[in-house]
Amino acid sequence: MQTDTVLRTFIEYYEERGHRRVTGSTLLPPPGDPVLFTTSGMHPLTPYLEGRPHELGRRLVNVQRCLRTTDVDEVGDPTHLTVFEMLGTWSLGDYEGPQSLEWGYDLLTEGLGIDPGLLHATVFGGDEQVGPDRDSLRVWQERGVPVEQTVEDNWWSNGPAGPCGPDSEIFLWTGDTPPRSTPTGDERWVEVWNHVMMRHRRLPDGSLVPLPQRNVDTGLGVERLAGLLQGRTSVFECDVFTPWRERVPGLWHLDEPSSRLVCDHLRSAMVVVGDGVRPGNTGRGYVLRRLVRRVLTVLWRDDPTRRLGDLPGDLYGHTRDHFGQPTDPDDVRRVLLDEERRFRRLLERGRQVLARPRFRGPLGEEELHYLHDTHGLPRDLVLSLRPQDS
Ligand code: SER
Repeated sequence: MQTDTVLRTFIEYYEERGHRRVTGSTLLPPPGDPVLFTTSGMHPLTPYLEGRPHELGRRLVNVQRCLRTTDVDEVGDPTHLTVFEMLGTWSLGDYEGPQSLEWGYDLLTEGLGIDPGLLHATVFGGDEQVGPDRDSLRVWQERGVPVEQTVEDNWWSNGPAGPCGPDSEIFLWTGDTPPRSTPTGDERWVEVWNHVMMRHRRLPDGSLVPLPQRNVDTGLGVERLAGLLQGRTSVFECDVFTPWRERVPGLWHLDEPSSRLVCDHLRSAMVVVGDGVRPGNTGRGYVLRRLVRRVLTVLWRDDPTRRLGDLPGDLYGHTRDHFGQPTDPDDVRRVLLDEERRFRRLLERGRQVLARPRFRGPLGEEELHYLHDTHGLPRDLVLSLRPQDS
């Protein structure tokens, strides 16, 4: 099943059950939000989970593009992406958790054709503040889905304070032989869908108070599910990466983790630029700059003559179309090529400056500050040119 079909099946299933689709899914949070980028489907809905009425009603569905850099060092493994899409559903004080789990189970098994024997659930087992989630447990037991109870793994929050609650996660078995263990005991159980019973707010002192309404917030990573439905355990092998897999290895000969990183970061950089961000030294611009520089560092490690200009232009158009962005792909390409030129010049200057006698010995904090303030050479860059000092 192609990713577009997964998206359509999901959205239509929930629309048939009274959900309205939230459109507009830019990576940029609304003005005044302190977070740089949207990191989950629920993020833009936080005020509505806290009680503000939503203009589309109390049942919502959407597909939200997200950017997470917390796991950026993991990119290169088979499952981590910086930009990804999340399908989400919300009950804003409308139906309760069991209804959400039942619909979720039916959609996975009947709508998307997953063998029910390959599913496992987890539920919140209770702690000293909140009791066990018996309602979710009962749903899974009635359906005959094996279920494991945990504490920390089944509590969802978006930070130390704010809306939070117990969750029930649905896992899909990816092993070649039948499972012998539970999700916490075997990594071949892959989490596909998280249903959060978002009913609490954690205050800065750690205590919990009830939210004004009992919500359900669910999130499902699109590329991961699509890959699994296509029989792949690596997100990079799902169909949205097909054009990348067809072009990048022929262009640049890279080991598999490096190739994944290059594809992920370039695609993410295109999406970030497509949402209106430009490279800079602070905030969002700096995240973008780091993504591009990480790509170039990997590419130039083996061959400094590699150029982003060699990347086929259709990858820009493919990415723009997939994410439904209005941007001209040629503009996005120009931004990335300008950034590449800038980084190349900076590296050349860095090498010249570091060759001076003053910098022959080990570099201390004072030299690193001087190189930054006087020559505009960031610490990361200096240390990448002088690995012996890091
Ligand atoms: N908030 C949950 C998550 O991000 C479900 O949307 O996983």
